[in-house]
Amino acid sequence: MFTTDLLKGRAALVTGGGTGICRGIALAFARHGCDVAITSRKIEHLEPTADEIRACGARAVAKAADVRDPVAVDDAIAAVVGELGRLDILVNGAAGNFICLAENLSPNGFGTVVDIDLKGTFNVSRAALPHLKARGGSVINISATLPYLGTMGQSHAAAAKAGIDSLTRVLACEWGPHGIRVNGIAPGPIEGTEGVRRLVDDASREGAVRQCPLGRLGTIDDVSNATLFLCSDAASFINGVTLVVDGGLWLRSARILGD
Ligand code: COA
Repeated sequence: MFTTDLLKGRAALVTGGGTGICRGIALAFARHGCDVAITSRKIEHLEPTADEIRACGARAVAKAADVRDPVAVDDAIAAVVGELGRLDILVNGAAGNFICLAENLSPNGFGTVVDIDLKGTFNVSRAALPHLKARGGSVINISATLPYLGTMGQSHAAAAKAGIDSLTRVLACEWGPHGIRVNGIAPGPIEGTEGVRRLVDDASREGAVRQCPLGRLGTIDDVSNATLFLCSDAASFINGVTLVVDGGLWLRSARILGD
């Protein structure tokens, strides 16, 4: 893995940054010169990743906070800015998901995923805004390709991610004048993540590899490289987009001929 000074001198907060895709993003930031704070509901998910961030030569802060709790979010952001001195980048990655057909899903089950994914993204973005305003910055909302599809068993997550995509576009307009760009990343199935382990069975995995124009699942590096790009000055005029990182897989859902 290469390292650069792409984000040197900057500080990032990655929610859900202890594990999976968001751990990969946190480590990529650290390898490119950025100090990184990570949050999760469980501190035990954070400490090993914080050690890995430090091993890259960056400063790390690990704070337990549930993104559903605005008071805990405010406290965590105050602590992060207190320790790192600034906040330039926010990645809203904290998410929850499971497979359940809508007819079997309780109102609380639907609401829990909307609360974590969509309301959590709002809560953290709102709390981060005063700090991002200080120098301008970048927000990345982790979405999914679910909003474009009719994936059965994912009514809760698809609705939450569709809301996130809308929030990305609105905040891009509201916060652009402060020098804050707001973009999203929509990964397809990513190898080696809890999401694929829990949500994708072997047959679906093989189907995804077969249908993907690039003939494979994504990797955590695929997503962290796209995130690095969107947070860097190389993307200085990109605002309000959700970048799909799925090798073209979701486009193949339109297939009629030639399967
Ligand atoms: N199928 C149907 N409903 C489910 C469910 C499942 N697999 N898992 C949770 N729910 C429902 C619960 O039944 C409950 O609704 P109820 O009160 O009407 O019974 C509601 O969701 C809240 O569940 P609870 O376990 O109390 O919430 P939580 O905040 O502790 O858990 C989740 C959050 C729901 C996201 C849980 O799945 C979780 O912790 N997952 C692990 C992390 C994760 O999802 N990572 C992302 C992988 S892509």
